Amino acid sequence: MNETADNARASRRRFLAGAAGLAAAGAGLRAARADNVKNLPPNVPDWTRNLGDGVGTQPYGTPSKYEKDVIRRTVPWLTATPESSVAFTPLHALDGIITPNGLCFERHHGGIAEVDPHDYRLMIHGLVEKPLIFTLEDIKRLPRVNKIYFLECAANSGMEWRGAQLNGVQYTHGMVHCVQYTGVPLKLLLEQACLKANAKWILAEGGDAAAMDRSLPLEKALDDCLVAYRMNGEMLRPEQGYPVRLVVPGWQGNVWVKWLRRIKVGDQPWFTREETSKYTDLLADGRARKFTYVMDAKSVITSPSPQAPLTQKGFTVISGLAWSGRGKVARVDVSLDGGRNWRTARIDGPVFDKACVRFYAEIEWNGEPLLLQSRAMDETGYVQPSKDALRKIRGVNSIYHNNGIQTWSLKANGEVENVEVG
Ligand code: MTE
Repeated sequence: MNETADNARASRRRFLAGAAGLAAAGAGLRAARADNVKNLPPNVPDWTRNLGDGVGTQPYGTPSKYEKDVIRRTVPWLTATPESSVAFTPLHALDGIITPNGLCFERHHGGIAEVDPHDYRLMIHGLVEKPLIFTLEDIKRLPRVNKIYFLECAANSGMEWRGAQLNGVQYTHGMVHCVQYTGVPLKLLLEQACLKANAKWILAEGGDAAAMDRSLPLEKALDDCLVAYRMNGEMLRPEQGYPVRLVVPGWQGNVWVKWLRRIKVGDQPWFTREETSKYTDLLADGRARKFTYVMDAKSVITSPSPQAPLTQKGFTVISGLAWSGRGKVARVDVSLDGGRNWRTARIDGPVFDKACVRFYAEIEWNGEPLLLQSRAMDETGYVQPSKDALRKIRGVNSIYHNNGIQTWSLKANGEVENVEVG
């Protein structure tokens, strides 16, 4: 995240102005629509008067043209190059717990590798009796499982450590997605290679230009990690590591190595660049927390939010997402007054281990300004902290692991702004 302070401030102003424009355009749209009545009852609409396109017009379906604004977006001033950058999930425009494949945020350090599946190989070596090389077909022939997990980048909400910064849930929290993976338990592959008695750690390395590599304790590798090749039924998208990625449930996105090329087994961590100069959490006293893999419980209201303002008074559904890297989300609370009073939100849909849950809180909105917050609790009893409580312990040097409670200021005109309360 390289930027000069001045550039960043200037671009941020432009960015915020753009976001405000979007909200205004949304409100204007409602007025324009009311004048155009030819498709409204009692008239027969155009789409009833004319035949539609035939089947197969789109061999691989895409969303309606009216949903063209629901896309991944970047923040141009955030990174120096698009190859080492991030495009964020449009959380404000989604519902349920599953992220559509084409909208999953993408984060790469060396661009999107284009791997020919015929030439794909996964190598397992190091402290094993039988070094092995698997083709994609070898991996697909093994017993497989289907699991729904969230993936959150450790840097999600990283720009918010020092104060409210980005005016949109897509940018403050959009480095998370939740999909169903199909793959082989890593344990199975390691067992085939026969681990030596002194095996304690693995190094997972990607086949992309960044050759992303991270050390993982063997215990986790043998517990619930997957070598996955499908997401939501179809083969992984290139952005998500086609044809094979590592799935490390509940742990920071950085260790979910994409375009997985090799796994080396060792007796100690490798202390790679990605776990020393990066992905460690610099504390106020200059010391750094290392190997902070687990993503703590977090939640956010996705609507209303700056990109999803309210356009009407009256019955209103507050909607959001919660997740925890330590297990299942047990409860989500919502506050309308900046954390003074809380009510329990309604979790709807399935609650899986280390997956997103969807929550709702229905309110009657009379146009009064509100300070909207959500707070997640997981099955271990962990409660999502306030940003201030987090800063007291961690300081403000790090960009990683910010799971503090988000506040949205809902104004009388329905617009929503990213703010902080004391
Ligand atoms: N794997 C490789 N090979 N190269 C990468 O740059 N980025 C990591 C991880 N795996 C990366 C990688 C980071 S920092 C994150 S947050 C996740 O992939 C993002 O996964 P996604 O692009 O599917 O959202």
